[in-house]
Amino acid sequence: MKRKEIIERKKAISEIIKCACAPDRDHFSSFSQFRHYEYNGHSFCLKSGCGDKLSSKLKHYIQNILKVNMERVYGSEWQAEEKTKRKEMVSPEARYIFVYETVDSDAYRMSETVGERGSQTVCASDKDTIVGFVHFRFTLEEEVPVLYVYELQLEPRVQGKGLGKFLMQLIELIACENRMSAVVLTVQKENFSALNFYTSKLR
Ligand SMILES: CC(C)(COP(=O)(O)OP(=O)(O)OC[C@H]1O[C@@H](n2cnc3c(N)ncnc32)[C@H](O)[C@@H]1OP(=O)(O)O)[C@@H](O)C(=O)NCCC(=O)NCCS
Repeated sequence: MKRKEIIERKKAISEIIKCACAPDRDHFSSFSQFRHYEYNGHSFCLKSGCGDKLSSKLKHYIQNILKVNMERVYGSEWQAEEKTKRKEMVSPEARYIFVYETVDSDAYRMSETVGERGSQTVCASDKDTIVGFVHFRFTLEEEVPVLYVYELQLEPRVQGKGLGKFLMQLIELIACENRMSAVVLTVQKENFSALNFYTSKLR
């Protein structure tokens, strides 16, 4: 009986992961209020993406921001780590939320109002500039279904504006909606400011 229960449990968990990973699943659809963020006159919009559908422009962007933010933290291990990250980045399991700084927040608000009346809300026009991203996956960690945050990267000029906290709140909501038991991430001990952000600020 016990063996049967274990098999049933494993089946149920793999079904949860399969469902969360479905390629056509839009993790934003329930949280449209998180598509837009404002801070002190700066306006940002968020857009989702998938590892195997990244444009070469986005791939370059990801590689570049990782180097800028993480090379110093990893020190002599950076070259090996960079190789691993390049592979992880384009995996079909990789889910993304990209953050764009919008040039015209009034236009965004207008499109949002039109959106309420039935049209699609427009986000990230050609003029908007990407300023960061989260890479996450739905996976098993010690037999528990978790949302694993592979990367959370913001350009230095947009750090400290509450965007990191905003993104982690969205991540928690996405994890709950997809029946994940936890949000997991890894932080280098040498990355003092990120450690402080997760432990002191996000608790
Ligand atoms: C770590 C990181 C994601 C945090 O995002 P952020 O947008 O800068 O953080 P927020 O502005 O949302 O900060 C939320 C809170 O943490 C505090 N905080 C943010 N960065 C901090 C820092 N370096 N030192 C101390 N406190 C910090 C803010 O004061 C804020 O507190 P408040 O809510 O009381 O005002 C971002 O700084 C980053 O991209 N760093 C470089 C890449 C990196 O290390 N990523 C993590 C890899 S695991």
